[in-house]
Amino acid sequence: MAFPSAWLDELLHKNDIVSVVSEYVELKPKGRKLWACCPLHGEKTPSFSVSPDKQLFYCFGCHAGGTVIQFVMDMERLTFYEAVQMLANRANMELPNEINDREMQRQRAYKKRLIEANTEAARYYSGCFLNPAIGKDAQGYAARRGLNAEIVTRFGIGYAPDTWDSLLKLLKGKGYSEKELVDAGLLVHNAERNTVYDAFRGRLIFPILGVNGQVLGFGARVMGDEKPKYINTGDTPVYNKRNNLYGLYLHKNEKLDDLIMVEGYMDVIGLYKAGVKNAVASLGTALTQQQARLLKRYVEKVYICYDGDAAGQNATVRGLDILKAEGLEVRVITIPDGLDPDEYVQVYGKEGFDRLKENALSLNAFKLEAMAKGYDLNDENGRERYAKTACAFVAGLQPIEQERYYRLIAKKTGYALEALEAQGVRSGGLQMTEDRTPIRGGFRRRIETGEDPRDVTERTLILACLHDKLALSRAIAENAAELIKNDTYRAMFLAMCEQGSAFSAAKYIGELDEKQAETASAVLKEEDAMENAIETTADCIRRMRRESAEDEIAALRAKLNKPDLTAEERNAVLKEITERIRANK
Ligand code: UTP
Ligand code: MN
Repeated sequence: MAFPSAWLDELLHKNDIVSVVSEYVELKPKGRKLWACCPLHGEKTPSFSVSPDKQLFYCFGCHAGGTVIQFVMDMERLTFYEAVQMLANRANMELPNEINDREMQRQRAYKKRLIEANTEAARYYSGCFLNPAIGKDAQGYAARRGLNAEIVTRFGIGYAPDTWDSLLKLLKGKGYSEKELVDAGLLVHNAERNTVYDAFRGRLIFPILGVNGQVLGFGARVMGDEKPKYINTGDTPVYNKRNNLYGLYLHKNEKLDDLIMVEGYMDVIGLYKAGVKNAVASLGTALTQQQARLLKRYVEKVYICYDGDAAGQNATVRGLDILKAEGLEVRVITIPDGLDPDEYVQVYGKEGFDRLKENALSLNAFKLEAMAKGYDLNDENGRERYAKTACAFVAGLQPIEQERYYRLIAKKTGYALEALEAQGVRSGGLQMTEDRTPIRGGFRRRIETGEDPRDVTERTLILACLHDKLALSRAIAENAAELIKNDTYRAMFLAMCEQGSAFSAAKYIGELDEKQAETASAVLKEEDAMENAIETTADCIRRMRRESAEDEIAALRAKLNKPDLTAEERNAVLKEITERIRANK
């Protein structure tokens, strides 16, 4: 995936950021920069800027920023690799040989072929559904479930007739091999008898589309009570349910405030029909990190709205942490009466659902509620035990948030606010969330996302050094490279030391592999929030030194726990700890 340096040079040279951005918005010059209303978030006054000198963009409103590659990633919702591909296309450049070697070309062609087979299948199933004779039962079933013609078209709903070989015959007739059709998941291979047959039979069909609208697989529902209710395309070269979200493709070119995570096909569709168009489904499985990252490309805020049953609630708890870890703001919609979202909107409509959404719980409130389920709050003893655990949890939150949640506990248990606060202070807090990062304005946002504060410090240092050559000299003089813990940031810093003013961040990042590129590009995002680079550098280095000293002290403290420590050794360690602490003040 790492692109060769000279090739990337050419790519960046041929895709001037001003001309690429101008394809999306009209830029107006002011000072050394060009300005527009941000195409990445809705706004009325221009806070989106492009610097032709630095070949970087930055939005003061939504804090998006980076190179032309990052811009295309954000704008078109592409991965790094896809964005480079698109820019290569735009500049009429061939992908470099290492990337475009024969094996990869073959794989790509094969995937394309499977997607074509899926597309043919979707077209066939749709034709069967609409056919008055073949699709009669399916049409009746769809109508009973409230799926009108518009919804059928929008979601491409189809019907797989109850035969063993109608799709097989059709697609073989179109030149697809049995192997291709089995690989795509359209046919099943029976090893014992060495035969193949249609995978979906006598079922309503929900095509599963990827974010770019390609047909990747299918869900198929029985129209009666047989089991299993749904069968779905398994892992294929083009589809893996862990990497995809049902319904997301509908929003490719939309600006969304938030997305709603639901469990099933029918939840997405039912909500859509009621006018809640921004739901996507994890398709009954636990939310994955890949899905959370996909969501992050579209929105900052996600509502989880799983079924009210125990399985749904457990999945909610796990999903919350996964979303939080990716830096998404998370809220939980709880549906009453054990209904699922589809059933709920059918009864209460969009208004009812919007009301639930307004009352959605924050992550912490949801955790406190979930915690309460483990205690009998009608019993004095249960209330006391719940209050103790809950207060310990709240004591670990940001001070500003604590009051709100102590109130919640007070309401549930009847204890006085003061008593609960005192209890919390005494417990010391379950988690360490002290904000250890003092850095100016723009960086706060990131800290709230739960990122390691050390990464933020290290990144800030690098940005300051990029900004100002004097800051870089100072960092070099202070031996900052030895203090940087994050491998990606240390390597980047060393490259800057080595290349001096010849260093180009855009080019450097382009040569990294995808994961590292993502980490490194975070450096550039806050470009314009950097005010006083020299002072910031000094701050960062001081902070990094202190943290490094704290690590050493912690390591010494750990030594004290060794069982076979002699009194003499113990005293030596204690002495060393005291000295370090004194030096560190
Ligand atoms: P649900 O049982 O909640 O289905 O499963 P649903 O979406 O509400 O469907 P209807 O309303 O009964 O038609 C949620 C999701 O779990 C997966 C499907 O993706 C389904 O949409 N699932 C469920 C399966 O894959 N197989 C099953 O047998 C059941
Ligand atoms: Mn349902």
